[in-house]
Amino acid sequence: MTPAPADLTRAGLSLEVGQPAPGAVTVTLSRAQRRNAMTPSMWRGLAAIGRGLPEGTRVVVIRGAGPSFSAGIDLRLFTPDGVPGEEPLPDLAGPGAEDWIAACQQAFTWLHDPAIVSIAAVRGHAIGAGFQLALACDLRVLADDARLCLKEAALGLVPDLAGSKPLVDIVGLPRALELALTARTVTAAEAQQLRLAELVVPAAELDGAVSDLAAALLTADPAVSRAVKELLAGAPGRTLPEQAAAERRAQVTLQRSRISR
Ligand code: CAA
Repeated sequence: MTPAPADLTRAGLSLEVGQPAPGAVTVTLSRAQRRNAMTPSMWRGLAAIGRGLPEGTRVVVIRGAGPSFSAGIDLRLFTPDGVPGEEPLPDLAGPGAEDWIAACQQAFTWLHDPAIVSIAAVRGHAIGAGFQLALACDLRVLADDARLCLKEAALGLVPDLAGSKPLVDIVGLPRALELALTARTVTAAEAQQLRLAELVVPAAELDGAVSDLAAALLTADPAVSRAVKELLAGAPGRTLPEQAAAERRAQVTLQRSRISR
């Protein structure tokens, strides 16, 4: 079931069903005054949206309110006072820490579901967990003012929100290592060179470009869209003969499903 709007508001999120087109939903990180800094509540809210997507959702757009996509984890969580209304972070060296991280990762991993195509619409900064959220999406459309930074190592952390695999898959191991260890900022222009952006547009055109992309993706038949995403997502882990076999299986399964519909 789609989470209640009031619960999402408390988590710093909003959800628009049927936006930017019928069959799509738009999720907005809505803590603009904190540059959409993320909290465990926000991660739980994102995971709940993923679990409760309205029937027939095919495209999911993730965007940030205000000038930034997301400034990453709310840094006050690392202070003794924490964030009002949020539970303190657990001891990451303690028992149960891996389970806690696994729950946080659910905010990110649903965006890979083959039933949907996910698009990150990134304006301004996407830092740390914010960059990992953009990496969790299948496609990234960047405003020309976008700035990406994998900040975790600078804070003594590894990137642990399921962003390390898409990063390596997209930019390759050497560049991923360089970006992750230097925590340097990547401009929109460099992001496009590194294939971290499918498209870079003037900031004023971001919403329109995302809307056009969503509409184009929605022209595909839902079963075809799912089958193609599954097939392509599995390709890096397969040899050529294995992928050719996967193509054959996918084709026959798809066509049989059409006959039985
Ligand atoms: N946590 C908490 N508050 C934040 C925040 C964050 N990550 N980022 C910004 N804010 C707050 C600022 O403190 C400021 O609050 P006040 O108005 O009360 O002073 C407000 O948001 C606006 O911020 P700025 O004035 O700094 O806005 P800016 O547009 O000039 O700069 C920014 C934006 C470049 C994102 C800058 O705010 C910044 O560098 N933020 C910190 C980014 C960061 O280091 N994040 C941690 C990433 S690592 C991570 O996410 C680890 C993980 O996965 C677990």
